[in-house]
Amino acid sequence: MQTLLINIKELLQVREANIEKVSGAAMAVLPSLKNAFLLIENDEIADFGLMENCPKIKADKTIDAKGKMILPSWCDSHTHIVYAGNREQEFVDRINGLTYEEIANRGGGILNSAKKLNETSEEEIYNQSKKRLEEVIQQGTGAVEIKSGYGLTVEGELKMLRVIQKLAKNHPITIKATFLGAHAFPTEYKENHAAYIDLIINEMLPKIAEEKLADYIDAFCETGYFSVAETERIMQAGAKYGLRSKIHVNQFTAINGIAACVKHKALSVDHLEIVTDEDIEVLKNSETMPVALPSCSYFISIPYTPARKMISAGLPLALASDFNPGTTPSGNMNFVVATACIKMKMTPEEAINAATLNGAYAMGISATHGSITVGKKANLIITKELNSFYELPYAFGSNLIEQVILNGESIS
Ligand code: NIG
Ligand code: FE
Repeated sequence: MQTLLINIKELLQVREANIEKVSGAAMAVLPSLKNAFLLIENDEIADFGLMENCPKIKADKTIDAKGKMILPSWCDSHTHIVYAGNREQEFVDRINGLTYEEIANRGGGILNSAKKLNETSEEEIYNQSKKRLEEVIQQGTGAVEIKSGYGLTVEGELKMLRVIQKLAKNHPITIKATFLGAHAFPTEYKENHAAYIDLIINEMLPKIAEEKLADYIDAFCETGYFSVAETERIMQAGAKYGLRSKIHVNQFTAINGIAACVKHKALSVDHLEIVTDEDIEVLKNSETMPVALPSCSYFISIPYTPARKMISAGLPLALASDFNPGTTPSGNMNFVVATACIKMKMTPEEAINAATLNGAYAMGISATHGSITVGKKANLIITKELNSFYELPYAFGSNLIEQVILNGESIS
């Protein structure tokens, strides 16, 4: 099956295969071709170039993209799309003056979602999560990481990971699964952290590994949640089963968790609303991708990740949605990109790099996703007619996506 896209006004994020991420000043460069073609063969990008070099072939399908932009699908490397019910009451409580922390201390927050999750059947959780996944596909996401972490029991965590596995089986989007048993301490373990960590390591992890339900491991390294030492235990245990770490860290406080993550060769450190000079230093020349979640900052009114400071220091940065019922009930990566430009002062070039190639790196798939590269997956966003790609973050409330292609096939 061949699909030929012709007359593309601008083909964005064209890269050689050896570029796995972009850092520092290189983030400001978004390589593109104007008046281009792109050839898809089966589920891969087979060729692309200027229209004057367009192959004279009779493809099975031809799409005229006159006036439109084409870019790789968003790679959303941090979500909690699988959950039961929602938490709109907490949203109203925050409007009325309570903080995220105060709500959590009253039994709300993560434990509220864990209660709902454990009371809901696997089938019902699947049906609720499927709707969210299908929504983000329409919004241009072509690869997504999904975490467990609302079970906090052996059965609950396995149930979530099985739902993720089933979502992956039934949808064309690429999905990576992350085990987040260390998301919060269940009430009965509040005074006995070691016992819950033992449960994670001795009961949950072996079963998850046996059923091959996770690609990565995560922990919420934060004051009042998992300490740096506890997070290190989780990272070490995951590594024994071949699960690399992607860690929630520096959301509310800086407790030197980033240094521990770099020491354990974490694939990514995520949130980073509070970042110290030492954190930046330790990330330099590491393999660990910093990931910012601007929709979370927006929704719960906390600081934005200091992108300018980090990029100026030469670091790479990825952008992800954090789609979850508590801090970010949205998986719209178009909004993430726009918010990064508007609130974090990232340029559109930097934000698109962060939400495609660097996002792919942050979930270990940059060899196959995140750029327009021969041999990579044909996961594409075709925009409506635009003046320039700057319109994508500029018109932040508009849907500028006309069509989505996943694995070479048209979705919308
Ligand atoms: O990434 N910070 C930790 N976890 C989620 C929120 C969890 C929740 O409130 O349900 C986050 O923001
Ligand atoms: Fe998160």
